[in-house]
Amino acid sequence: MNISSSNPSSYKYEDYRETADWLLSHTEQRPKIAIICGSGLCGLADLLDNKTVFPYKGIPHFPNRTGHVSQLVFGELQGKQCVCMQGHFNKGYDIATVTYPVRVFFLLGVETLIITNAVGGLNPNFKVGDIMLIKDHINMPGYAGQNPLCGHNDERFGVRFPCMSDAYDKDLSSLAKEAAEEQGCSSFIQQGVYCMLAGPTFETIAECRALQKLGADAVGMSTVPEVVVARHCGLRVFGLSLITNKVVTDYNSQEKTNHDEVLETTHMRTQDLQRLISNLLAKM
Ligand code: HPA
Repeated sequence: MNISSSNPSSYKYEDYRETADWLLSHTEQRPKIAIICGSGLCGLADLLDNKTVFPYKGIPHFPNRTGHVSQLVFGELQGKQCVCMQGHFNKGYDIATVTYPVRVFFLLGVETLIITNAVGGLNPNFKVGDIMLIKDHINMPGYAGQNPLCGHNDERFGVRFPCMSDAYDKDLSSLAKEAAEEQGCSSFIQQGVYCMLAGPTFETIAECRALQKLGADAVGMSTVPEVVVARHCGLRVFGLSLITNKVVTDYNSQEKTNHDEVLETTHMRTQDLQRLISNLLAKM
């Protein structure tokens, strides 16, 4: 489903329910943890044991995407039952489509959402390849009316005005820090504020300078809608951002942010990120 064929009110409670019930009737797994991996970080799903794989196109009501791996993978990591999204919905999909899987996870009985993304580093102390534990976010599209909870509120998912000051779970963040120390990667672990912009353009120099003044440490184009919907229905959230590039803030710089650099850094850090999530799960 793309932006022209769907709108935020196009899904009903019954759609999410039917999707969840269909999945529950096709697997005996009852995951408590859902993992949404950003572009290039989907390899984690391959590490699951006892996998059951559901291509999106075969799941009732589940949004589909073309041209990439697009499947839900149920299985075990570190003995914990998980469901991984291999292929997330980002640019070109409306906000209800992007967040559809999160409500399905809730109805499956998931209690914790782990989400990763690629970001540009705004904090001058961050280096390319650093991993930032997300401590808070700035929902910039929300400032412009693009919040996934706009419109009718279905109390079966959550309250009309959910709190967001506790969006990112502090205990999970502490566990992740411990896991990072134990696997010897504390030298590139950071903590900070993630700011979402709609994209798909990268930021101007003036925009980056403005975001730094606002208190953002990293900028990306995803994650916040899923986190808002997850918190609305009471899931605990843990988020990780990979600093794939440093944003340009100097008018004399010749640097240009580009997608190839993003993919290159993602490739370089994939193993560390996967180990970190796996080691975190072992501690949960
Ligand atoms: N800006 C926005 N999104 C991104 C960036 C960036 O610099 N790098 C990776 N995702």
